[in-house]
Amino acid sequence: MSSIPLRFTIRNENAKLSKDSHDYKLEYAMQTVDISKLTGIPETMLITVRARALESQKKDPLVIDKKALDILSSLSTQDTSKTKVSPGSQVGVLIRTKFLDNIILNFIGQNQEQNQDSVIVNLGAGLDARCERLKRGNVKWIDVDLPEVISIRNHFFRQSDTYKMVAASLMDFKWMEYVDNSKPVLFVAEGVLMYLEPDNVQKLLKEIAARFPGSQMTFDVISPWMVKHSYIHPDVKKYKVQFNWGIDSEQDLEKVIPCVKVIQCEKMMKLNTEKWPLFMKILCIFPFFRNSSKLMHIQFPPA
Ligand SMILES: C[S@@+](CC[C@H](N)C(=O)[O-])C[C@H]1O[C@@H](n2cnc3c(N)ncnc32)[C@H](O)[C@@H]1O
Repeated sequence: MSSIPLRFTIRNENAKLSKDSHDYKLEYAMQTVDISKLTGIPETMLITVRARALESQKKDPLVIDKKALDILSSLSTQDTSKTKVSPGSQVGVLIRTKFLDNIILNFIGQNQEQNQDSVIVNLGAGLDARCERLKRGNVKWIDVDLPEVISIRNHFFRQSDTYKMVAASLMDFKWMEYVDNSKPVLFVAEGVLMYLEPDNVQKLLKEIAARFPGSQMTFDVISPWMVKHSYIHPDVKKYKVQFNWGIDSEQDLEKVIPCVKVIQCEKMMKLNTEKWPLFMKILCIFPFFRNSSKLMHIQFPPA
């Protein structure tokens, strides 16, 4: 566990806004939020927010996430080991983010075409800003994460009629009571399921399937090989956490949820191939590496 305090510097609500997001930060009176107690899996949300912020400053970004940049620029840390994201994770997180963004936008768009309101539920949302970044009209959006994460999130995001944050473990199924199951629902889990125990992933997916028949879910999944080797992952090992759940194939998922429909399943290493660092392209000659991460879009069986 990290014993070095990290600090978030956050904006004062009374500050004035100016045209450019980079200017307005300067006009805010600053205050700090001490997050030194944040350790372990919740702390891994710093990898993804950092990757998106860094990407947004690049010349040819896969995703532009100004809010991540704002959050990151408000973050000061003495722990320099955690201020970098490895080149492989940088690309991996962004490819994943872009893929999931597209699935979410298509889901919202398809339902809007049929004059249907839909619901998006982001499981283990961390400091993910897609609730603001993606154009969603009146679509209801719910972000769920552990209480210590939501208390930090509260400094950067405001709830509204169409946006709710739920402070709960995913394994405490009470969060499901906030989700309107009379509407089409898309669950999103980015960089989350691999941290859960296999039994818990099974329980979670079975409960969603039972309570939200016909709903959809999009998430990333790693292979059992990757789970076994999480200690070599350059970013994960910094946070002193490990991966716990992985599957090899779509058929493994059917063992968890019989009759699940796999709408799309992509090997991450095959997407945006020009972006991957050379050493990862070379490692892809080995199937265990090439097949180590996948992006999935599934539909739970209808009632
Ligand atoms: C790598 S971060 C990803 C955050 C976010 N999805 C993103 O892409 O920026 C993993 C997140 O999963 C959350 N998480 C892990 N286990 C959880 C659980 N049992 N209940 C709720 N959230 C959980 C962590 O708190 C953390 O925010």
